[in-house]
Amino acid sequence: MTTSGRDAIFETLLESAKRLSFDPRDPLVCQPDSDGDEFHGMTPEWSPLFGTATWDSMAESERVRLTRSEVAQFLGVGIWLEVGLQVALLRASHSADPARSDVKFLFNECADENLHSLMFVNVIDSIGSHFYRRDRSLDFFGWLFRTIAWDEVAYGIVLAGEEIFDVMQRDWMASEDVAAPIRRACYIHVIEESRHMAYARQKIRTRLIKISRVRRFISTLVIAIGTHLVAKSLINRRMYEDLGLDWKVVGPEIAANEHHRIMFRRAAEPFIEFLSREGLLNFGARWIYRKSNLL
Ligand SMILES: [Fe+2]
Ligand SMILES: [Fe+2]
Repeated sequence: MTTSGRDAIFETLLESAKRLSFDPRDPLVCQPDSDGDEFHGMTPEWSPLFGTATWDSMAESERVRLTRSEVAQFLGVGIWLEVGLQVALLRASHSADPARSDVKFLFNECADENLHSLMFVNVIDSIGSHFYRRDRSLDFFGWLFRTIAWDEVAYGIVLAGEEIFDVMQRDWMASEDVAAPIRRACYIHVIEESRHMAYARQKIRTRLIKISRVRRFISTLVIAIGTHLVAKSLINRRMYEDLGLDWKVVGPEIAANEHHRIMFRRAAEPFIEFLSREGLLNFGARWIYRKSNLL
C-alpha cells in the first residue's frame, strides 16, 4: 500500500471520530445507576467462577456482588492498559510531525482513552464497587511495557487488550442481566475502540513490511508474553479475598474451570486470527497463548 493509501485510512478514521464520538462527562451519556442492586456487573457467563462449586453455592445476591467486583477488576485492568498505551505510543511519536494523519489520529485516540478511563472510574463508583491493587510483578511489567515496547510490540499488546475487551463488552452491553451504567459504558467503548483497533492493525501491518526474521521472531514472542500478562492480570486474588472467598479454594476452581477457558478463548479469537494472518504466531507464541487459555 502506498503512503497516501495509508494516510487515507487514518483520515477516514479521523472523519469517523468526528461523526460518532461520546463525551462520558455529559450527564445525558453517563447517568447514575437507578436500577437497584439486582443487576450484574458483567454477563454472569463471563465470571471466571461461573459454573464452579463456589458459584453454584452462592445466592443470586452474592453472585451479583461477585460480578460487580469482577467488572471493577476487569475495567481496572482496562484503565491500566489505556494509561500505559498512551505513555508507550506518545513516547514513540514525541518527535514526529504532529500534522501527519496517523499522529493526529493518535491524539484523538489518547483523548478517547482518557475519557474512557474517567468513564470507567465513574461507572464503577456508581455500581458501588471499587478497584483492587495489582501484584507488584504486574506493575514492573507495566513499567517495562511503557518504557521499552517498540512499534509492533506496543501496538500488538494494545490490540490484544482492545480485542479481548471488545468481545466481552459486546456481550455485556447486550445483556439484560447487566447494570445500566455498565451497559452504556460498554456501548460507548465498543464504538470508539473499533477505530482504535483498525488503527493498531494498520500500524502493525505497516511496521511488519520488510521486517527482519529475527525481529519478527522476537516481537512475536514479546507480544505473546505481554498478552499473557494482560489475561493473567484479570484474575486478582485480592478481589476474591475482599469478598470473603478463600483463594485456596477459588484459585484452583478458576484454573480448572473449562467454561472460563472457553470464554477466554472466545474473547481472544479475533486477535489470534489477526496474528495468524500477519505471521505473528510461532511455536513458542502458540505455547504461551495455550498456557494463558487464549488458544
Ligand atoms: Fe479505551
Ligand atoms: Fe483503545
